[in-house]
Amino acid sequence: MIRPILRAMTCAGAGLWLTLAPALAGDAAQQSARSAAEIMDILMWNREPVGGPFTLTDQAGHARTDKEFRGRLMLVYFGFTYCPDVCPTDLQAIGLALDKLGPDGDQVQPVFITVDPERDTASHLAEYVPMFHPRLIGLTGSADAIRQVADAYKVYYARVPLKDGDYTVDHTAYIYLMDRDGNYLGFFPPGTSADRMVEIIRPRLAEPAR
Ligand code: NI
Repeated sequence: MIRPILRAMTCAGAGLWLTLAPALAGDAAQQSARSAAEIMDILMWNREPVGGPFTLTDQAGHARTDKEFRGRLMLVYFGFTYCPDVCPTDLQAIGLALDKLGPDGDQVQPVFITVDPERDTASHLAEYVPMFHPRLIGLTGSADAIRQVADAYKVYYARVPLKDGDYTVDHTAYIYLMDRDGNYLGFFPPGTSADRMVEIIRPRLAEPAR
């Protein structure tokens, strides 16, 4: 019964869905430590903390840490730029939600963290993130750094080899909302509309930082 849910919640390039088993290729640093089912269970029932400190590189090549976003809400999304449909759709919704929030949207920092750091270099992210919102920060890093932050946010990702020798990345596509202190508030499922995000985020903006 859980499989259809997982299918809806993950985003594999070219719309393909293979198995819940670990990826067939790639070393351990290129995929999450736990299976998609384990990670879904953790998120569904709030079994473990979500989020944590990171130091990554933005699309301009600058080091960025989570700490600099304190005082703002954070919308954190994990994906990869070669993702054909789910990632761009969700990033578009995030950008639209920020616009709909108007000036209040400045209090929300959108962050896109790649799960494909090998291809998503800073310069590649620089071409990608501005398509969705001028304030969207794209982050990349070493395979180890990405694995660490993905594990902290309970993100499942795994390389899936394609027939032509290329690969895609299967990954969970939740949009995480963090409060002004960097604490996890909850997630939007993939496909959440901009209007729904605004409805959920706006009341949170009225809450001052502790
Ligand atoms: Ni995707």
